Amino acid sequence: MSRDLLQEIDKKKQQLNAVIMAHFYQLPEIQEAADFVGDSLQLAKQAAETDAQVIVFCGVGFMAESAKILNPQKTVILPDAKAGCPMADMADANALREMKKQHPNAVVVSYVNTSAEVKAESYICCTSSNAVQVVNLIPEDKEIIFVPDKNLGAYIQSRTGRDMILWEGCCPVHDALTTLQLEEQMRLHPGVKVAVHPECPPEITRMADAVRSTAGILEYVRYSPEQEFIIGTEQGFLYTLQKACPEKKFYLARTGFECPDMKYITLPKLNETLINKQYQIEVPEDIRKNAYLALQRMLAIK
Ligand code: 13P
Ligand code: SF4
Repeated sequence: MSRDLLQEIDKKKQQLNAVIMAHFYQLPEIQEAADFVGDSLQLAKQAAETDAQVIVFCGVGFMAESAKILNPQKTVILPDAKAGCPMADMADANALREMKKQHPNAVVVSYVNTSAEVKAESYICCTSSNAVQVVNLIPEDKEIIFVPDKNLGAYIQSRTGRDMILWEGCCPVHDALTTLQLEEQMRLHPGVKVAVHPECPPEITRMADAVRSTAGILEYVRYSPEQEFIIGTEQGFLYTLQKACPEKKFYLARTGFECPDMKYITLPKLNETLINKQYQIEVPEDIRKNAYLALQRMLAIK
């Protein structure tokens, strides 16, 4: 980790009146450079409240886009335009409009891992932190269309007893975790608690002791009396966990549990971004206004 580069970034950030936000899956040096590191919900809340003129978002496209939807008058920058989310790309607004026509009375709940256009077609957004709470708020007599993660959707169904119309999408990174891989880690570390993200397939979430968002897993391991954990989510998060709980041990549920999109953001790119202000996020105003309503309904939940 280059201390000089970190100092350089800090200096430029102050000159620009910028705030650097980073998701837990970012590289360790990016987490160190950030003013705020969090899960999707914490980052959205932080973006809604910041006083900074420039938001540099170290994460993937939909996260930076959410920050722009909440702050249209601010400059929002994603240090590498290639950092997308394959799951978000699995839901397109035209197909969602078609589905809404088939179910005219349905309420659309969209995971924040969606494009601004899909959010604009939704009644309310959710993250993995508040998905169960959001779905529980929808009146019992309403059908629910849940977009785009069928795994998170199945997990919500198991927790709420609601039968939802699930979009056929998933996170390729979490969906790739197999029961064989998890069983192998459980065999190597007998009796160790298993904490996984709800983007994992149902056969995995059924095997886990805790199914939580990244911030939820952090809280779980921090307050647990246990000393060792098998973690079923992206490997960048192990840096966060180890930093928060240096005395505890963490084992990744499979080798190569990596989101390549999250890793496009590097320290040199972050430094460059603060010079050339690339790549700025723009959302057309008609889409932004409706997407804002869906995000705001979620953020208003206490
Ligand atoms: P969290 O909101 O739990 O951080 O999840 C975001 C994400 O993209 C998981 O793949
Ligand atoms: Fe998208 Fe999955 Fe990467 Fe999260 S881990 S950003 S859901 S591809």
